[in-house]
Amino acid sequence: MKVVHHRMVTMFGLLHFLFFGALPAMARDVDLLISFKNSLTNPSLLSDWNQAKGVCEFRGIACKAGYVSSLTIRELPLGADFGSVSAHILSLPNLETLSLQSINLTGSISAHANCTTRLKRLDLSSNHLRGSVSDTASLAASCTSLQSLNLSNNSIGQAFYHSYPSFLPNLKILDLSYNKIATNKDIQWLFSKLGILKHLDLSNNNIKGSIPKISNCTFLQYLDLSSNQLSSIVPAGTFSHCLNITYLNISSNHFTGIAPPDIDTSMNLVILSLSNNNFSGEIPISSLVAMPGLQLLELAFNNFSGSLPNSVSNLTSLELLDLSANRFSGPIPHSICTQSVSSLKVLYLQDNYFSGFIPDSLRNCTNLVSLDLSLNLLSGSIPGSLGSLSNLKDLIMWQNNLNGDIPAELSSLKSLKNLLLDYNNLTGTIPDGLVNCTSLNWISLASNRLTGSIPIWIGKLENLVILILRNNSFTGSIPPGLGDCKGLAWLDLNSNQLTGNIPPALAKQSGKIVASLLVVGRRYVQLSIGNNNQCHGTGSFLEFDGIRSDDLMRMPSTRYCNFTRAYTGFTGDNLRNNISMLFLDLSYNQLEGHIPIEISTMQYLMVLNLEHNRLTGPLPEKLGDITHLGVLDLSHNFLEGRIPASFSALSLSGLDLSNNLLTGPIPEWGSLVTFPAYAFENNSGLCGFPLPPCNSGSTSREDRSQLSSTNNQSFQSWRIALGLLFSLFFIFGFVIGQFLEQISVYFGCDYVSVLY
Ligand SMILES: *[C@@H]1O[C@H](CO)[C@@H](O)[C@H](O)[C@H]1NC(C)=O
Ligand SMILES: *[C@@H]1O[C@H](CO)[C@@H](O)[C@H](O)[C@H]1NC(C)=O
Ligand SMILES: *[C@@H]1O[C@H](CO)[C@@H](O)[C@H](O)[C@H]1NC(C)=O
Ligand SMILES: *[C@@H]1O[C@H](CO)[C@@H](O)[C@H](O)[C@H]1NC(C)=O
Ligand SMILES: *[C@@H]1O[C@H](CO)[C@@H](O)[C@H](O)[C@H]1NC(C)=O
Ligand SMILES: *[C@@H]1O[C@H](CO)[C@@H](O)[C@H](O)[C@H]1NC(C)=O
Ligand SMILES: *[C@@H]1O[C@H](CO)[C@@H](O)[C@H](O)[C@H]1NC(C)=O
Ligand SMILES: *[C@@H]1O[C@H](CO)[C@@H](O)[C@H](O)[C@H]1NC(C)=O
Ligand SMILES: *[C@@H]1O[C@H](CO)[C@@H](O)[C@H](O)[C@H]1NC(C)=O
Ligand SMILES: *[C@@H]1O[C@H](CO)[C@@H](O)[C@H](O)[C@H]1NC(C)=O
Ligand SMILES: *[C@@H]1O[C@H](CO)[C@@H](O)[C@H](O)[C@H]1NC(C)=O
Ligand SMILES: *[C@@H]1O[C@H](CO)[C@@H](O)[C@H](O)[C@H]1NC(C)=O
Repeated sequence: MKVVHHRMVTMFGLLHFLFFGALPAMARDVDLLISFKNSLTNPSLLSDWNQAKGVCEFRGIACKAGYVSSLTIRELPLGADFGSVSAHILSLPNLETLSLQSINLTGSISAHANCTTRLKRLDLSSNHLRGSVSDTASLAASCTSLQSLNLSNNSIGQAFYHSYPSFLPNLKILDLSYNKIATNKDIQWLFSKLGILKHLDLSNNNIKGSIPKISNCTFLQYLDLSSNQLSSIVPAGTFSHCLNITYLNISSNHFTGIAPPDIDTSMNLVILSLSNNNFSGEIPISSLVAMPGLQLLELAFNNFSGSLPNSVSNLTSLELLDLSANRFSGPIPHSICTQSVSSLKVLYLQDNYFSGFIPDSLRNCTNLVSLDLSLNLLSGSIPGSLGSLSNLKDLIMWQNNLNGDIPAELSSLKSLKNLLLDYNNLTGTIPDGLVNCTSLNWISLASNRLTGSIPIWIGKLENLVILILRNNSFTGSIPPGLGDCKGLAWLDLNSNQLTGNIPPALAKQSGKIVASLLVVGRRYVQLSIGNNNQCHGTGSFLEFDGIRSDDLMRMPSTRYCNFTRAYTGFTGDNLRNNISMLFLDLSYNQLEGHIPIEISTMQYLMVLNLEHNRLTGPLPEKLGDITHLGVLDLSHNFLEGRIPASFSALSLSGLDLSNNLLTGPIPEWGSLVTFPAYAFENNSGLCGFPLPPCNSGSTSREDRSQLSSTNNQSFQSWRIALGLLFSLFFIFGFVIGQFLEQISVYFGCDYVSVLY
């Protein structure tokens, strides 16, 4: 039996060999793969690489005519050494594609590989491979048919380099992004040996020095040098041979001088990014307009100046124009989008010195999705014709000198998500037509001169997350319908002339917030107000994309409001479902009546600011249940009765109950005792620490006035650390600016240590 069986196998093998001529080679595939598996510390990670199966059924394997032609394994911590890959996998005779992304490959690529001659694509990205740039070339050279080599996100460049090979093999694609390449010599060598390379990505390394000339780049189409440490000017001649280049990204370096002079009519760029450098002077507009294919032009965060010529409208393929954070001046060209079909989708002109009117021709940018003109010197009114931009999602124009009404025509912007018009001189009412802009996520109209009442229909904007109407002249009462906004997380109505009660229905949305409706991933800044009696409320919260933080000093209110600190970050997506409003500021109005007990159902409320109103009645005991509350300011009202013992359970970092009619002892435990006297002073009869003891007889006027004068400095101080509170809503960034010298502050908890 055994013999027969053996014979049959042999027969079959022989037949197979005769017909297909390759059994030994197939067996070799299996052997090599199994040896690789056995070289792993934990071979069970590849448990289905099992001889009982056909090799073509192994995980990650694809075969052509019975031979292993491709191996792809991703995100599995195999922890293999490159030597083992080289010895066992790279020598698979028919392998054409090898992709081992993020499998914790270690070791050096300098060991010479016995690479199969068929290998075309090699992707070893996101591992821990070491080696030099010359080792990379040697590796490529040992795989004679290799066209594409991806070593992105490893540690190439740290090792000593051996002598450079005399040529870069016939690679078409080389990705060395996210490595540790630091020496300028490496790119000098690469740039002199490009051969037939089409795609070269050296972004996110640490390459220093100036950019070398590229001697022969006939074939180069894609060059990414962004996010390195390259400096000095880009000399004429650098790209003069790269006439076939379509993607050029040299952003996020330290280049100076004028824009690269080689970017001229003979190139055919589609994407050009010079952002985040120190380029200055005028932009080479005549060269740019001669490139009819240009689609993306990123020049943000440089020092470009001068005006934007009318000929910009000749860039008919342009989809994105980002000139933010520069020194451009003069008017926005009235020719913009006058070409019959405009492809422009994104126009970022924020943080410049553009002046004059917003051109009516923008109405012809029918594909426009995002328009940001913030922090300029624009005047006149907002053209109603913008209402014809049916794809518009972002209409962002804060800090200009715009006046007139918010045009009623905006009501046709069905896609509008962000309407941010803060710090202008807008008058009139909020147009009723906006009720039809049901996509609105973020409405911010702070610091204008808007009047009328807050429209009842705002409650119908189901997707509204942030509503900021601070510092206007709105009158009437707060519409209870706001409680129907199931996504409203941030409501700032401070400094208006609102009257009536705080509607209990505001809390209707508690527990119903749908996290998916959030504004996610938008850069913002929170400006904290220092000691100043002119600016009220909890501070300024602004969208902050494309704005240089130093240029916030250009906002008149920075001086006027004495903004002391700026915090920046990105709006987060970590808000869970079924939570409540996070921020409620109704301060500096003329609201009356009791604090509605329903507010206590806003379990996630972090800031509750009702100061400077005419609220009466007791402090609801239930407020002590708002477990996330960090700032509670009820000062300057007519609140009476005792401070409920439940308040001791709050872990507040800011508290102000001063200037009310409160009586009785201050609860002696919990966070309340950590606040200084200013938080309690000027009440009818509060006593106990930090105020004088309750049964000490008289608290003389002298004592009290002494207390208030010593603590004057700390008044409103909780605003300064406010930025750190909103961790549920934001991915917290960092302090970007301390506009004024630090103020000595007293906080109820240890946020101070985070700050200083
Ligand atoms: C990666 O592999 C090395 C050695 O093979 C091992 O020491 C290390 O713990 C592994 N890291 C991860 C994240 O698996
Ligand atoms: C390459 O192949 C030769 C002969 O087959 C062998 O001696 C050598 O060890 C191999 N090298 C590597 C790195 O696998
Ligand atoms: C780099 O690789 C690591 C895993 O090794 C991964 O977590 C990280 O996201 C990768 N980074 C990039 C920029 O690809
Ligand atoms: C290289 O791999 C990285 C990470 O896997 C990937 O993001 C990148 O697109 C690849 N590069 C090329 C040129 O395909
Ligand atoms: C540029 O390089 C290519 C590919 O190596 C070669 O064919 C061509 O002759 C070179 N051109 C010049 C001007 O050196
Ligand atoms: C230049 O690019 C075009 C496509 O963009 C391509 O067809 C042509 O072959 C390229 N020329 C060279 C020399 O690579
Ligand atoms: C250019 O590079 C920067 C930094 O690496 C990147 O953020 C940007 O998206 C790139 N621009 C384009 C148009 O690809
Ligand atoms: C822009 O286009 C117009 C006509 O389309 C042409 O007359 C004008 O010369 C062009 N301007 C530039 C700077 O190319
Ligand atoms: C809009 O484009 C049309 C041609 O498509 C042109 O006649 C009209 O003048 C343009 N409008 C503005 C305001 O530029
Ligand atoms: C706002 O407009 C009024 C007139 O409507 C004008 O007096 C005032 O100076 C303007 N304010 C600013 C800051 O432009
Ligand atoms: C809202 O849209 C509807 C239908 O599209 C229209 O009838 C109504 O007049 C619009 N409302 C306002 C206030 O413009
Ligand atoms: C701003 O705050 C600083 C520090 O508290 C103070 O010295 C200064 O007088 C304030 N300026 C104004 C205009 O209130």
